[in-house]
Amino acid sequence: MDVVLFGPPGAGKGTQARLLAARLGVPQIATGDMMRAERASGSELGRRFDAYMGRGLLVPDELVLELLEERLRRPDARAGAIFDGFPRTVAQAEALDALLARLGRRLAAVVSLDVGLDAIVERAAGRRVCEACGQTYHVRYNPPPSTGRCGACGADRLVRRDDDAEPVVRRRYEEYVAKTEPVLAYYEARGLLRRVDGTGSVDVVTRSIGEVIDAVRSAR
Ligand code: AP5
Repeated sequence: MDVVLFGPPGAGKGTQARLLAARLGVPQIATGDMMRAERASGSELGRRFDAYMGRGLLVPDELVLELLEERLRRPDARAGAIFDGFPRTVAQAEALDALLARLGRRLAAVVSLDVGLDAIVERAAGRRVCEACGQTYHVRYNPPPSTGRCGACGADRLVRRDDDAEPVVRRRYEEYVAKTEPVLAYYEARGLLRRVDGTGSVDVVTRSIGEVIDAVRSAR
C-alpha cells in the first residue's frame, strides 16, 4: 500500500509516518531525513542540499526525484511505502504517479494533517531528534526518557534541527503555502485526498489516521 502523509512543516508527518509504516509493514520514505543523512555524510550531494535546507527553502525537484527513485526501487519498498515530506510540488506529485505506474502501482491515499502556524512554531521549538536513529521527541508533548538518552536506540545524541529556529520555520511555512499547498488540489481532483485534524495528541491523531486507512483498505 502506497500512502502519502502530507502537511505543513512540523505537522507530525514524521511521527505518524513511523507508526503507520510499522503498522502496514512498509518502509517510511522521508526525503528530509534522507537529505539530512546526505548532509551529515559530507558528500558532494549533501553540500548541494545545505544551501536550501538551512534557509528553509525547498530543494530543486530534480535533486529530490533522483534520491526518491533510487530509494523506491530498493527491495523493502516492493509492497508499498509511506511517503513523508514528499511530494512537495505538483511536479513531484506528477513524477511520483509516473514512477509508481512504471512499477505497476498507484497511490492508495493522501492523508493531510491539518495544523495551524502557531502550533507548528511551538512544535518545532520543542522538537528533539535522535541523531543516531531519527526518533523524534517533543520536550513537552512527547518527552524523551529522563536519562536524556533516546528511548528507541539508547544513544545520547538528542539534538535540535538547524531549521527549527523560529525565523527558518516561518520561511519553511511560507514555502509550504506557496509551493506545497497547491498539491492538495492535485490530489483532491483525483479523489485521493483525506483530511485529518492534526492538532490532537499523538495518540488521537494516530487513531484518526488509522480509521482513514481502514476505510481506504475496505473500499479497495
Ligand atoms: P522535512 O524533514 O521533510 O521537514 P518538514 O516537512 O518541514 O517536516 P518536519 O520534519 O519539520 O515535521 P513533521 O511534519 O515530520 O513533524 P514531526 O513528526 O517531526 O524537510 C526539511 C527540509 O528538507 C525542507 O525544508 C526542504 O529544504 C528539504 N526537503 C525535504 N523534502 C523535500 C522535497 N520533497 N522537496 C524539496 N525539498 C525537500 O513533529 C514535529 C514536532 O511536534 C516533534 O517534536 C513531535 O514530537 C511533535 N508532535 C508530533 N505530533 C504531535 C502532536 N499530535 N501533538 C503535539 N506534538 C506533536
